[in-house]
Order: sequence, then structure tokens, then C-alpha cells
Amino acid sequence: MRVALTVNGNRAEVDVEPRTSLADCLRDRLRLTGTHLGCEHGVCGACTVILDGAAVRSCLMLAVQAEGSHVVTVEGLSQEDGLTPLQTAFKKHHALQCGFCTPGMLTTAHALLTEEPDADADRIRSVLSGNLCRCTGYIPIVEAVLEARAAYRAAPASPHPNPPPPAGEGGPHIAPPTENPPPQAGKGRVGASGRGRVRAEAEKP
Ligand code: FES
Ligand code: FES
Repeated sequence: MRVALTVNGNRAEVDVEPRTSLADCLRDRLRLTGTHLGCEHGVCGACTVILDGAAVRSCLMLAVQAEGSHVVTVEGLSQEDGLTPLQTAFKKHHALQCGFCTPGMLTTAHALLTEEPDADADRIRSVLSGNLCRCTGYIPIVEAVLEARAAYRAAPASPHPNPPPPAGEGGPHIAPPTENPPPQAGKGRVGASGRGRVRAEAEKP
């Protein structure tokens, strides 16, 4: 089946099996391997991406369900001229060790702070409790997200990060990969300006 979606501001059309998860589509078809797969059962949060502004677990979604959607992966949260405020805060507070959970932590925190830039420590802990980390003990992650709040307060959210050009006006396109395509580095950029929403499934006790 052919799926058309926008990933990190770039249009993509991908041929997938009906059973292909969004995570596998992003990693294996579009070579955006920043989205990690841990449990593949919706438990660990490592696969979290932002779909139409909401943090979702891409291992629980079929790629075909993302037809017509705007997806932002951790690559799309990067910028070319240095670290974003959220990344800077993670670095400052040593909020990662092995880094396996980090893509999901960053996408979840970005979605949260975009919608709730005044989130307090309890709210941050509650939302991030749906993302498992085996290394840090969570304290530095919460401290990093708390520090990053100032940047989100200062940058009003826009409805869609990196809106794609209207249909028919060209713009970047992620072609379906051929055999053994080279890895693609970050596509597009969002910075701290995208609107986010944290869905209930990311708020497990
Ligand atoms: Fe998706 Fe663990 S890999 S929640
Ligand atoms: Fe290793 Fe979180 S930094 S799992």
C-alpha cells in the first residue's frame, strides 16, 4: 500500500505492507533511525513521535494510519546551528547516559512543553512516567525539562512545525528508498516552536 505523509516538513510517499508499523516505516523505509524501538508493545516510549501535534507511540500505529498526517521525529527537533534549548538542557543536566530512551524523552518533552510551557515538576514526572529510562534515575531528565520551559514560554507555538508547501508546488520529497539506501540525517527542523499535545497513552502511572 502506498502511504503519503509529511515527515519533519518533507513530503514522503512510501510503499508499505498493511501490517507495517509507523515505527518500522520511519526506521526501515525512510531511514529515520532516531526513533528507537524498545518493547514494541507501547510500554517503553522509546518510539515516541509527534503526530499532528500529539505525542504517540509509533510502534502501536500502523503506517497506513498516518496517511495525510504530519509526523515529527527526533531528527525533526534538531536545528542546524547548534543545540536546541531542550537539547542544551539535556546536555547540561546529564539527562542521558546510553541514550536509548532519549529520542522518546525529547519528543515527549517537546510535545508537553509546547502545549504546557508552565508544566511543573509533578506534571513533567507524570507525563514522562510513560517513558522508561534504565540509566539516569529520571531526576536529571526532569531537571532538564524544567529548565527548558523558559525557551518554550518565549517561543509561541505554531500550529504546524515546518508546514509543507501546498500540493503541486514542489518542495522536499522523501522518495521510497531503493535497496540499501544511505541513512538520511535529520530532515527538516522544528526547534522549540511546534505545537505539541501529549495523548493519554503517554501518561501512564
Ligand atoms: Fe514503542 Fe516501546 S517501542 S513503546
Ligand atoms: Fe539509557 Fe535512558 S539514558 S535508557
